Amino acid sequence: MNDILLRVQDIKILFGPIKALDGVDFELRKGEIHGLVGENGSGKSTLTSIMAGILQHYEGTMEKSGLPYRPLNVVNAQELGVSMVVQEMGTVPELSVAENIFLGKERLFSKLGIVHKKKMIKSASEALENIGELTISPAIPVGMLSFEDRKIVELAKAMVDKPSVFILDETTTAISMRGRTLMYAVMEKLRQEEKGVVFITHDLEELMTVCTKLTVLRDGKIIGSLNKDEFSVELIRSMMVGREIKDNMYRVDYDATDTGEAVLSAENLCGAEVIENVNIELRKGEILGIGGLSDSGMHELGRLLFGLDKAISGRVRLADGTLINNPEVAVDNGIGYVSKNRDQEALMLRASIRDNIVASALKKKIPGHLISPKTENRLADDMVRELAIKCASHSQQVRFLSGGNKQKVVFSKWIGNDSKILILDCPTRGVDIGVKCAMYDLIVRLKADGCSIVLISEELQELLGMSDRILIIKDGRVEREYGRSASLSEHDLIESMI
Ligand SMILES: Nc1ncnc2c1ncn2[C@@H]1O[C@H](COP(=O)(O)OP(=O)(O)OP(=O)(O)O)[C@@H](O)[C@H]1O
Ligand SMILES: [Mg+2]
Repeated sequence: MNDILLRVQDIKILFGPIKALDGVDFELRKGEIHGLVGENGSGKSTLTSIMAGILQHYEGTMEKSGLPYRPLNVVNAQELGVSMVVQEMGTVPELSVAENIFLGKERLFSKLGIVHKKKMIKSASEALENIGELTISPAIPVGMLSFEDRKIVELAKAMVDKPSVFILDETTTAISMRGRTLMYAVMEKLRQEEKGVVFITHDLEELMTVCTKLTVLRDGKIIGSLNKDEFSVELIRSMMVGREIKDNMYRVDYDATDTGEAVLSAENLCGAEVIENVNIELRKGEILGIGGLSDSGMHELGRLLFGLDKAISGRVRLADGTLINNPEVAVDNGIGYVSKNRDQEALMLRASIRDNIVASALKKKIPGHLISPKTENRLADDMVRELAIKCASHSQQVRFLSGGNKQKVVFSKWIGNDSKILILDCPTRGVDIGVKCAMYDLIVRLKADGCSIVLISEELQELLGMSDRILIIKDGRVEREYGRSASLSEHDLIESMI
């Protein structure tokens, strides 16, 4: 029994009327990489936030290495050996990398109330080196870093106190292989040192590869745990949702691509980052898949097509010649965009679900033809139902939703907008498998209605399963084009990606 690092007993927590956790028992043992899996809103982030001292208003008890454990706050939890990289942004953009890493621990570097900056920066350098990161400069403000690098800073910060319990909440989903490799290495090292890791991801393949054990949560309750030799996608899925999910989530047809007219084209498009001389056409009613390594430029291409990034040269235009050079023009012309980075670009976190969903629809109102509140409510209710957005009501503020449920709101926003062209950048990131199915169904329906869709994705199965054509981007250029075919494999795509 003395190999239990952290024991959680009968935890209950309420958010207003919502019972986010309802009598949860959980054990983390030495040398375990323990996966936590469940549908969006099942309580994973809530449970780990309690362990990490972020939430305090719960009932129940915890023990750490046999002693009572009830952290007062995050810094206290870290002092007691528990640290976490959170699902959302966990850094302060205005502060430097070093200040973020040692947030709440400034006294380590201060004398008579004055913080010795140089010392702090040096220690931050060491903290980054410790996790194998050598490129991020500790003196610059975190706000200047990419999403991925911020996550790496959070990882370094979490490791500073040499935790015996380390929690990683869905961090790997949003980042490239470089960041993932760092994270996997840190987890593996902790495992070898007989420490414990709690790992959250919606990617079942990743979960089964990385974890030594996993526990399934549903509606705030533990459904069960599996040891590595019991892992199977089917079993995990059915434990998660409590019902069978159809085996093939993707399109079933392999009909020849109909060559509709081009609705959007990029001509000799060059971006500020990597995109160079890209020529592509999006045709009416087609799903155009775009794949590549995460730094290939495919995400930049999405931003350029929506006018969010300015083209250095070349242009993006509609069939009627309208130039798309900023997002307002794009939206006015019926283009929608689901950003990979939902919190920064896509949502008004302090507004309600309804207001987020109807905001882009409102933009399209014709003077004198206001959308009535009744229509707004209906639109919001439809989307909440269709994508099973877990909320008290559509008036709830978006910031209180679980990560995956926020992503559903982003998606709804553009679907409800009657967009004619949709640019979807990793639209199913962080959503559970049941909702993925619902999103794919919606995408197929939109296609049938004549909507044209650019689907940028890091999931090859998703590209293969959904696209009429697939373009592989490499080093900022279109490396190769594939037509839809049942015989096309992940292997084929990977070959042209690397
Ligand atoms: N601060 C809050 N205020 C109100 N409700 C909240 C708050 N935090 C979480 N909830 C609710 O608690 C439930 C569990 O949320 P949690 O974030 O733990 O889910 P999750 O399993 O991490 O989901 P995801 O996979 O989408 O990240 C959800 O219904 C969520 O809306
Ligand atoms: Mg979560």
